[in-house]
Amino acid sequence: MFGITAWIHAAGCVSRPLNPEDLSPDPYEQLTLWLDKARRARLPEPNAMAVCSVGEDGTPSQRMVLMKHHSPENGVLFYTNYASRKAKELEAHPKTSLLIHYHLLQRQIRMTGPVERATRAESEAYFATRPRSSQLGAWASRQSDILPDRATFEARFEKVKKEFEGKDIPCPEFWGGYRVRPDTFEFWQGRAYRLHDRFVYARDPAGAWTITRLYP
Ligand SMILES: Cc1cc2nc3c(=O)[nH]c(=O)nc-3n(C[C@H](O)[C@H](O)[C@H](O)COP(=O)(O)O)c2cc1C
Repeated sequence: MFGITAWIHAAGCVSRPLNPEDLSPDPYEQLTLWLDKARRARLPEPNAMAVCSVGEDGTPSQRMVLMKHHSPENGVLFYTNYASRKAKELEAHPKTSLLIHYHLLQRQIRMTGPVERATRAESEAYFATRPRSSQLGAWASRQSDILPDRATFEARFEKVKKEFEGKDIPCPEFWGGYRVRPDTFEFWQGRAYRLHDRFVYARDPAGAWTITRLYP
């Protein structure tokens, strides 16, 4: 064995069954198990996920973001520009679907639920951990606005770099987190002959999670 085949086998996930007894009763813990597996398999950016929003006319739109936190207490967090298209659409229709796909592990994770802004304290705390260049990038980008040319963007970057020279860079007011509190999580495990395994966690009215198997 060599190359990708060896890599997949080392990850131990070829057509691996997903049995009900393997599932954690807590979907956040199940998410952690799969994220850890993807990290151990050295997949690039295992926390990358598609986030869906819907425009005024009902047109859905998706883009990738990085999941920066997940826990039952605080939900699933990602960070972005509050003036971006996704932010405007999510604030107008505060529900979303998140999707993670690990092709080499034959796994897919889908989450759906309401979205809200993270607290200012959460956004500032996370922003402070970012590399300086990313902090400058956040200040320089008017994300989703029309950009006439690359030079304009680079000039804005140089301008903010000069402004903050020798200083700490604060979290911009127009930048911060969104928290998704999934009310469903779906874990999909690819199997041979398209006889995949698929389980959905849904919250019952008392707040407990129920797990249901679906046809793939
Ligand atoms: C792997 C990957 C990760 C990304 N992570 C983020 C992120 O965490 N936050 C963000 O605002 N954009 C991120 N982007 C860029 C977005 O996909 C998108 O282009 C940008 O946020 C503008 O989207 P919008 O105009 O729909 O708001 C990422 C892109 C890729 C490919």
